Amino acid sequence: MKAINIGLIGLGTVGTGVVRLLTAEKELLARRLGTHLVLKKAADLDPARLAAAALAPDQVTSRAEDILDDPEIDIVVELIGGCGAAKDYVLSAIDRGKHVVTANKALLAHHGNDLLAAAAAKGVEIAFEASVCGGIPIILALRQGLAANRIQELFGILNGTANYILTQMTQSGASYGQALAEAQAHGYAEADPTLDVEGIDTAHKLAILMSLSYGARLDLDSIAVEGISRLDPLDLQFAGEFGYCMKLLAITRDDGHRVEARVHPTLVPRDHMLANVSGAMNAVYLTGNAVGPILLYGQGAGMMPTASAVVSDLMDLARNLICAVPGRVPALGWESALNTHRLIKPINDLVTNYYLRFSALDRPGVLSQVSGILGKHNISIAAVIQKGREAAGTVPIVMITHEAREADARAAMAEIDRLPIVSPPTVFYRIEDPHLHAAQI
Ligand code: HSE
Repeated sequence: MKAINIGLIGLGTVGTGVVRLLTAEKELLARRLGTHLVLKKAADLDPARLAAAALAPDQVTSRAEDILDDPEIDIVVELIGGCGAAKDYVLSAIDRGKHVVTANKALLAHHGNDLLAAAAAKGVEIAFEASVCGGIPIILALRQGLAANRIQELFGILNGTANYILTQMTQSGASYGQALAEAQAHGYAEADPTLDVEGIDTAHKLAILMSLSYGARLDLDSIAVEGISRLDPLDLQFAGEFGYCMKLLAITRDDGHRVEARVHPTLVPRDHMLANVSGAMNAVYLTGNAVGPILLYGQGAGMMPTASAVVSDLMDLARNLICAVPGRVPALGWESALNTHRLIKPINDLVTNYYLRFSALDRPGVLSQVSGILGKHNISIAAVIQKGREAAGTVPIVMITHEAREADARAAMAEIDRLPIVSPPTVFYRIEDPHLHAAQI
């Protein structure tokens, strides 16, 4: 059977892992496929990377065009990241009738609709298992394994860097700055950690997971995004006193009419499975109407876990080539996803439980003023902690609310922050706690 020729653009960490797998597991892959995956050429601008790759001189090049222009190459693997040259290379590959494998979640989240449409028009495939949660086969699960389900809700810890920082802050009481420095020292966080800590990378991945879940166009702009960089360890401590821990969650939920689309630090009960996803690990907890709840857990980044996902895509595309059925399963797992929009629930319409921390003067009547304003805005208090008097004169009052509408919570906080006895701003976090929902029913 004809071997499948591969061109690889980008010999960074993941690219190096892909070379390693294709080389070390050559026979295993051939036994599974019935043919060989041949790395015909790898391109990188950095001569040091080309020299370090365990490849023959005629297998390496500094010019991506040598891959794109090679008519013998069947599949192009794009591993350079970003939305600049990567986008041009992917479009060029599609234009030349080549299939594409990419790990590039930013590219897909920003330009996925156009790229997938271009690929469909050319009759080629784009595969992207490595774009979300590295080695966890969540894309395969949503495209195929769970295809008989309506995805009712999905919660993801999709960013290892943020999860590492939150774990450090929770376990050692470290400040955000200290935990970030530690993440950088261990190589988890970039020198510029913005994409990871501000929830942007998580939002890119949620946009992809939502398209796969609902069979709709990618819609990054509708996702409400908040990061973890302004977290105060004090709130992690109070959260712990209420039995919660803080996780940066990607959340989507389908009410049958509209879908929630949000990324933010979230309090989850300490006995929830996601609360025990620590360090740089990733997890997706989702519920399908037929299958019920499922947890997928594993390494979301790193050389070999991500290479595992890239090579699995190569094998999938190779099988479709062998059987001459490219596009047998549509890229997003639905026939008409690119023509379908889902209505997104604006964050102000969200109904959930809130954690609120006010800084108020320790005077008689303070609690009744605060709770009076909450009551006026239809917000009912489920639990309160008030700490003793401090030198500065203000004390933290921490509350957990019953389910409330976000617009009401924001209006109440704005009014409370105008009280002369309160030092604004009030801190608030959303809670995902099935026990609280049950308690209110
Ligand atoms: N920077 C990401 C993370 C990995 O920290 O999880 C790649 O998506």
